[in-house]
Amino acid sequence: MEGMTSFSVVAEGLRKRYGDTWALDGLDLAVPEGMVYGLLGPNGAGKTTVVRILTTLVRADAGRATVAGFDVATQSAQVRHHIGLTGQQPTVDEILTGRENLEMWARLHHLGAAAARRRAGELLDRFGLTEAAGKRVRHYSGGMRRRLDLAIAFILAPRVLFLDEPTTGLDPRSRTEVWQSVRTLVADGGTVVMTTQYLSEADHLAHRIAVIDAGRVVADDTPERLKSQIGGDQIDLVVHEAGDLTEAAGVLLRVTGAEPAVDADTRRLIAPVRDRIAALTEVMRELSRLDIAVEDVALRRPTLDEVFLNLTKERTAA
Ligand SMILES: Nc1ncnc2c1ncn2[C@@H]1O[C@H](COP(=O)(O)OP(=O)(O)OP(=O)(O)O)[C@@H](O)[C@H]1O
Ligand SMILES: [Mg+2]
Repeated sequence: MEGMTSFSVVAEGLRKRYGDTWALDGLDLAVPEGMVYGLLGPNGAGKTTVVRILTTLVRADAGRATVAGFDVATQSAQVRHHIGLTGQQPTVDEILTGRENLEMWARLHHLGAAAARRRAGELLDRFGLTEAAGKRVRHYSGGMRRRLDLAIAFILAPRVLFLDEPTTGLDPRSRTEVWQSVRTLVADGGTVVMTTQYLSEADHLAHRIAVIDAGRVVADDTPERLKSQIGGDQIDLVVHEAGDLTEAAGVLLRVTGAEPAVDADTRRLIAPVRDRIAALTEVMRELSRLDIAVEDVALRRPTLDEVFLNLTKERTAA
């Protein structure tokens, strides 16, 4: 199975410097074909820089990369032919209407006039822009611009689609539409590389995630394995009275053997557990015996947010 994997994107040792800053500092990446691959990382980690290099907009100072089998440095025209890109900054033409923008891009991609009109109509519909199709983009809201930008990226059903924060600023319904389009593209055999600030989005959508920090990949795995990497389930407990926090923390420590994280403002305590139900039962029995009122209690998996904070904190401290 492993031997049969083909990769849509392979990057080895990418480095890129801006002044004194190494935006990329030896970045390696291998994106298997036919999946949604999420790039996560704090602001300034290098996500946009790697997307710009892989889409041939910027040259790396060192290292090499291929996209759809073509070298981004020496075969950039072929790379561009197989990719779509939506950048962090929208690229639509302000003076034109939404429909005109789409038709213009479709023509630039060598569709005939009738085919371009048809494709524009489909995409306007898919991204909820039919009503606004005749308005100049200058009068669009931020979310409408972004949706138009995405529609442009989908014109040719590219083999590899790069999306740099595609859903930032979108309302929940538009975000769901973007997710649906991404899934459709992948179901049709395409590959999507996307950055996002929304970790729950990466969790829902990405088959695999690379966490980037300070220009390097610090983790690369499925969302599930990333989450289990920082431990199993946790007890998440909220006590009714702030005055009970210390005593409740003592109970959690005795039962789970781990020092719980305590947030005094929200009266919340969190501790990792192994034998979930037994530990929960024991904690509740002890709290009840001590007459400590519990407002809320849950057993839950770590979230991707916790994984992210954990990984990027480690490196800052290193
Ligand atoms: N054109 C440029 N000129 C100078 N510095 C740049 C340029 N582009 C990026 N940088 C620097 O390179 C580093 C990485 O930037 P990049 O935009 O790739 O980060 P990012 O992960 O996309 O961040 P964000 O989450 O804020 O979008 C930052 O320190 C940034 O200031
Ligand atoms: Mg960015």
